[in-house]
Amino acid sequence: AWSSKSNHTDFLSCLSTKIPSQIVLTPSSRSFKPLLVSSIRNARLVAPATASPPLCIVTPTEASHVQAVVRCGRSHRVRVRVRSGGHDNEGLSYRSATPNGEAFAVIDLSKLNAVRVDARAATAWVDSGTTLGELYYRVATAAPGLGFPAGVCPTVGVGGLISGGGMGLMMRKNGLSADNVLDASMVDAEGNLLPDKKAMGDDLFWAIRGGGGGNFGIVLSWKLRLVPVPSKVAFFNVTKTLDQGAVDAVTQWQTIAPALPEDLSVRVIVQKRQATFQSLYLGNCSAVVATMRSQFPELGLKRGDCLEMSWLQHKAYLYFGKASTNKPLEALLLNRSMTIGPYVKNKSDYVKKALTRNAWEKIFLWPDGGAVGQLILEPHGGMMSRIADDYTPFPYRSGVLYNIQYVEFWNGTGGHDMPKWLSGLYDFMAPLVSKSPRGAYVNYRDLDIGVNKVVGGVTSYETAKVWGDRYFGLANFKRLAKIKRKVDATDYFRNEQSVPPLLFIR
Ligand code: FDA
Repeated sequence: AWSSKSNHTDFLSCLSTKIPSQIVLTPSSRSFKPLLVSSIRNARLVAPATASPPLCIVTPTEASHVQAVVRCGRSHRVRVRVRSGGHDNEGLSYRSATPNGEAFAVIDLSKLNAVRVDARAATAWVDSGTTLGELYYRVATAAPGLGFPAGVCPTVGVGGLISGGGMGLMMRKNGLSADNVLDASMVDAEGNLLPDKKAMGDDLFWAIRGGGGGNFGIVLSWKLRLVPVPSKVAFFNVTKTLDQGAVDAVTQWQTIAPALPEDLSVRVIVQKRQATFQSLYLGNCSAVVATMRSQFPELGLKRGDCLEMSWLQHKAYLYFGKASTNKPLEALLLNRSMTIGPYVKNKSDYVKKALTRNAWEKIFLWPDGGAVGQLILEPHGGMMSRIADDYTPFPYRSGVLYNIQYVEFWNGTGGHDMPKWLSGLYDFMAPLVSKSPRGAYVNYRDLDIGVNKVVGGVTSYETAKVWGDRYFGLANFKRLAKIKRKVDATDYFRNEQSVPPLLFIR
């Protein structure tokens, strides 16, 4: 049995013979709880007092520690979950979302956060436990003139982000983070160290670049292709209220933004009946103001709205806003401990056909029930539309105008509060967004779109395909499930939304 007490004891004693005791924390340790919640910024994911905590949290400092946990786990029938930055929207890296689910241990990679930059070759080996803020800071300081295409929030972990793709304001020029992975090292489901893509083979190397975290093994380190960035980039942040034409501006943005020059990304945040247009332009203000005036005159961008700054400063500005100008750039190397904050629920959609003005008017005025509702619109097009749907597991390439992330924040009183703004809005959006399947981004994980069922000791492909089709498209999902069968046939790495092994090839 996977959850017997004697297995747990044997597992912990196996660990004690193989790895230093100070990197294994059990619930009896005073540091356990603070470490467990250290990456949580969503009150919804703080387990109720009645839920079982992980058996232990291991904080490896070298590959052999990770191998030991997997080997002891396999021998003594204890599963592991791996956490890099801990930003999974459903907390699957450190909590079980199944009531009375199987016991598990957490491998927390936060101490594996080295970044080794080779400026001449324009590459870097980056450990999975590195945060995006650390990655940006280390790259920009070791190799001015180079950057990396990834997300906005500096506390997101490299391990989870790349495992699921990695969108950001440079994807229109350079693709996803996962598109820029040249090599990787990982520990597989048997506890073997696979030091490079040759050892993994083409299929496994394909699967780890966007097929979702927690499925195929534990990626320790990624070799990234760094990309050129100019010494100054241009940033603007323009807000329009309803009276200032926010609805018209967003309606037009839908087809303009995906067709802009690739050096320019303009994303939109819709919140409190306002739309904020935020940019990254890999060039100077006079050029971007001229481009915006000719291609998107309705936004009314003025020279005074635009700021020039270094690529790294831009990262700080996007996160801290104006306050970033009074902070050293080392602020991007944030303390990982989060304040937990309100309840949060995220969902996502892809848009292939622009929504009507009328639809946007309804969205802007959607009743919020006292919660804060936010839509973040990330434009695709450019490089994203030139990459084939099966180049990586991420299928949202040509024909996609933009991604929508819905975020709702509310103050809850217990574990059972439901989102107030999002549930109705998500239904309203159904006929307006991508269909058959209705797309979703695996890194904006959402357990409402389907959870696994275990049948005969293995996750059922038929059940998983409901959510798998939506994240990856059916062809990519089937390929992922075949690879899972090859590399983890007994389904050791398993969670509520893990890729199942396709046992019977049809
Ligand atoms: P976490 O450690 O929780 O891992 C996520 C999943 O991957 C889990 O299933 C975990 O087990 C698995 N995993 C983690 N490390 C692994 C490893 N080394 N090997 C194998 N599997 C591993 N996304 C985006 O594309 N662009 C963006 O700008 C943002 N911005 C953003 C902001 C905020 C505040 C949040 C909360 C989230 C985002 N995201 C995002 C989504 C983000 O990409 C997604 O949550 C990632 O999975 C987070 O990676 P972490 O390592 O932080 O998560």
